[in-house]
Amino acid sequence: MENRLKIIYQDYLHKIQQTKDLKSLDEIFLALFGKNGEITLATKEFPKLSKEELKVVAPLLAKVKAELEEAVTKRREEIKEEGYQKLSEEKLDLTPVELPREKGHLHVITTFEEETVGLFQKLGFQRYDAPQIDSDDFNFSLLNIPEDHPARDLWDTLYLDSERFGIEPGKLLLRTHTSNSQVRIMREHQPPFRMMVLGRCFRYENLDARHEHTFEQFEIVYVDKGLSMANLQYLSEHLLKGIFGEEMKVRMTPGYYPFVEPGAGVDGLCIFCKGKGCKVCGGVGWLELAGAGMIHPTVLKNGGIDPKIYSGIAWGFGPFRMLMLKYGINDIRTFLSGNLKELLKYEGESK
Ligand code: DAH
Repeated sequence: MENRLKIIYQDYLHKIQQTKDLKSLDEIFLALFGKNGEITLATKEFPKLSKEELKVVAPLLAKVKAELEEAVTKRREEIKEEGYQKLSEEKLDLTPVELPREKGHLHVITTFEEETVGLFQKLGFQRYDAPQIDSDDFNFSLLNIPEDHPARDLWDTLYLDSERFGIEPGKLLLRTHTSNSQVRIMREHQPPFRMMVLGRCFRYENLDARHEHTFEQFEIVYVDKGLSMANLQYLSEHLLKGIFGEEMKVRMTPGYYPFVEPGAGVDGLCIFCKGKGCKVCGGVGWLELAGAGMIHPTVLKNGGIDPKIYSGIAWGFGPFRMLMLKYGINDIRTFLSGNLKELLKYEGESK
């Protein structure tokens, strides 16, 4: 027993001094003083010993126990101390790390939208949304384009399988222009009113650099007493100068649209040649950017407005065309079907 205690002492003293962390120290403590620990078991063997043996072993055990306990306590303090030491030596580098960042920006269509809507809000125009899936009536018939009229050929229309929804064949379509808003606006509002519509339109196009099946239009519908083509000229200038700058010039040329009388095309001075004539404008010096006119009396009547009292003006601009000019984008497909990264090239200009 005496020997056993000496071995336990040396063995464990060594282990205690070698431990590096508190957890292993706790394990050693248990291996000594726990329920089945070496010291505990040794104490339990006392009754088996003779009196002489006990005289030697009992004080020895007390001494071994006390010293090992003390060694554990001491080592525990040391380990804690070492931990603090390490912490204070450790340097935490808080320099901000420059992470690689891909710069993002608003889509040029969104920027355009914000700009144009802002320009017309200032003049008291209110935003109106008409459905993109609409009836043949609002898109054509009520706009003075009767069924089977050749004027319908001006728009390559995408018809929906309306029978599936229990609607007469050929009655449901993807709107070909934002003009589908006109009669809705008139029926829902008492004149005078100033409305603007900005949104997607769809056509069955042969796709190329200048034609896309999905595109935007910016339309205004303005009904009041005594409006004239002069108001239309003013508003067209307001838009084009707002987008392209003060040096932009605007002119109107006669044009045919069944829902206006008189009808006009709105041209902007070619920003590339400033009117001299170049490849972009086909030598004309001007680019047609919108269809416009005085709202046809039949259309006003369809909207429940008396054309003898009120007159209306309307135009529909093609924002994609304007954006192509503004940023020198040479393929209309860049906007929606193209690779978005392509648009990053125009980031500088689009803010
Ligand atoms: N909706 C016509 C188109 O898509 C453009 C247009 C022409 C709109 C004349 C108008 C207008 O409001 O008065 O071709």
